[in-house]
Amino acid sequence: MNVNQKDILLSVSRLTVHFHTDRGVVKALDRAELSVGRGEVVGLIGESGCGKTTIARSVLRVLPPAGKIIDGMVLFSGQDLLSMKENDLNTSVRGKAITLIPQDPFNSFNPVFAVGTQIKDIMKWKGNAQDNKEINEKRILEMLEQVQIPSSRDQLKKSPVQRWTAPAVHDRHGVVAGAEPGDCR
Ligand SMILES: Nc1ncnc2c1ncn2[C@@H]1O[C@H](COP(=O)(O)OP(=O)(O)OP(=O)(O)O)[C@@H](O)[C@H]1O
Ligand SMILES: [Mg+2]
Repeated sequence: MNVNQKDILLSVSRLTVHFHTDRGVVKALDRAELSVGRGEVVGLIGESGCGKTTIARSVLRVLPPAGKIIDGMVLFSGQDLLSMKENDLNTSVRGKAITLIPQDPFNSFNPVFAVGTQIKDIMKWKGNAQDNKEINEKRILEMLEQVQIPSSRDQLKKSPVQRWTAPAVHDRHGVVAGAEPGDCR
């Protein structure tokens, strides 16, 4: 697709990210460039460790603590995401305008807390939770059904390990994201 300059939705320029480790500095991104036009689908392809996930995490500023954005600019709809206040990122960008689906969704859940609680926390954070427990559970079960992981109310009370490890190994289920499907745009 030939994207006109004014139709660019996301533009990443000169993005430079380092990870500070015990063994020294890992220069994960060195002036990376990327742009995504409105309505355009972009796939990033590259060998393992070339920085695909680091770009995605940098855009939302959700790098692991060792990761530091050294330089660069990330513009989304003309807004500079790298200088935006945390609060503004939370209220208008993260999980709303831009959603990150983790590379390994099963391991992205906290193994200690119940599946239902974790999904409900995300719904609350996104302002999608109701005051009514029944309605919330029904919505969670519907979302799991949509991603082909039918569950029961009892299963929502289990930890991800109890609930998913065995079925995941057997069935190789797909993605579970706490975001409403409509948010992935
Ligand atoms: N938490 C971290 N601490 C130290 N180095 C890291 C960390 N996360 C990523 N890196 C390093 O940053 C570089 C880019 O990693 P990244 O995960 O972005 O690659 P990727 O392209 O997503 O790889 P894959 O295809 O395996 O998912 C790699 O050299 C990796 O080792
Ligand atoms: Mg990756």
